[in-house]
Amino acid sequence: MIILSIESSCDETAAAVVSGREVLSSVVNTQIEEHKIYGGVVPEIASRRHSENISAVVDKAITDAGITYQDIDAVAVTHAPGLIGALLVGVNFAKGLAFSLGVPLIPVHHLRSHIAANYIAHPDLEPPFLCLLVSGGNTVLAEVTDYTSFNIIGATRDDAAGECFDKAARQMGLSYPGGVTLDKIATVSDPKKYPLPTPHLTGNEFDFSFSGLKTAVINTVHNAKQKGEEIDVPVLAATLREKVCEILKTKTFLAAEKYGYKKIVLAGGVSANSELRRVFNAECEKRGFNLYFPPLSLCGDNAAMVGAQAFYEYKKGNIADMSLNATATLPIDYNGKG
Ligand code: KG4
Repeated sequence: MIILSIESSCDETAAAVVSGREVLSSVVNTQIEEHKIYGGVVPEIASRRHSENISAVVDKAITDAGITYQDIDAVAVTHAPGLIGALLVGVNFAKGLAFSLGVPLIPVHHLRSHIAANYIAHPDLEPPFLCLLVSGGNTVLAEVTDYTSFNIIGATRDDAAGECFDKAARQMGLSYPGGVTLDKIATVSDPKKYPLPTPHLTGNEFDFSFSGLKTAVINTVHNAKQKGEEIDVPVLAATLREKVCEILKTKTFLAAEKYGYKKIVLAGGVSANSELRRVFNAECEKRGFNLYFPPLSLCGDNAAMVGAQAFYEYKKGNIADMSLNATATLPIDYNGKG
């Protein structure tokens, strides 16, 4: 089954052609350079660039795959969650294309597709497993009981891990996307020099909170400025990175114990973080667990992962009609119908 997939949930316009887990082509047009000068994604600019680029990106995906539009068996699209104006561009384009070709339209949840990046990279990976999904907008710990069935164990109550990295990095004067830059320049952590708080939450022990950490970094930078002191940015970056990764690790492995998982999957943009990979690798090795994460090329937003997830959504009967709309927020365990 040949699926043409489209992704436009944030600042990447992407299209891919996939057959099951096999990627025949994948085109990503990123807007990072344009948003860099604003220190973050400007939604209106993102929507405009998606509108301008989407036809050419889809055309290139078709050409690169060596197929024609007539070979497409279904069109898949990210419909939620994300920036509403950005999502609408992909959703409307996909609706028009599916209608004109007379093929099914498959709605794909953005976070489900981040998990599916692992299906492309690891042909042997099958649910059930425990997944830590860490991206710019979401931090979710979930049981993936089947390709389209999820049980949320914990989620962030405020900022996502990626957002915490991005905002803290901006305060440190690092360029957008902050998480990436922070990871590159971080050296050795020093919690004595830069003590950062460990969030303590009441209620669900598997929930996360990163806004306090973000604020602590902002205060550290402001206090230093007021005193005319220099911040050691590589050390502060490493201290924050270590703290965030420690929190993610502790909760994930506690959940693995409680729910009985020995197969751990990392997904989302922050799964590119070198420290996160290191600590999870070490912990899984110690416990004899299997760890999966996507290659760097599939950690960020792309449409290949949308196509891979779409295959399983289609098999489950999750097909949309022309009333499909974009949705800014939607939990990963929704019913899949769009
Ligand atoms: O999954 P993603 O591409 O977009 C969303 O769907 O949110 O994630 C983007 C996030 C950004 O916050 C970015 O700073 C972060 O992933 N990120 C990283 C790294 N690479 C990307 N954060 C920490 N370390 C990295 N190496």
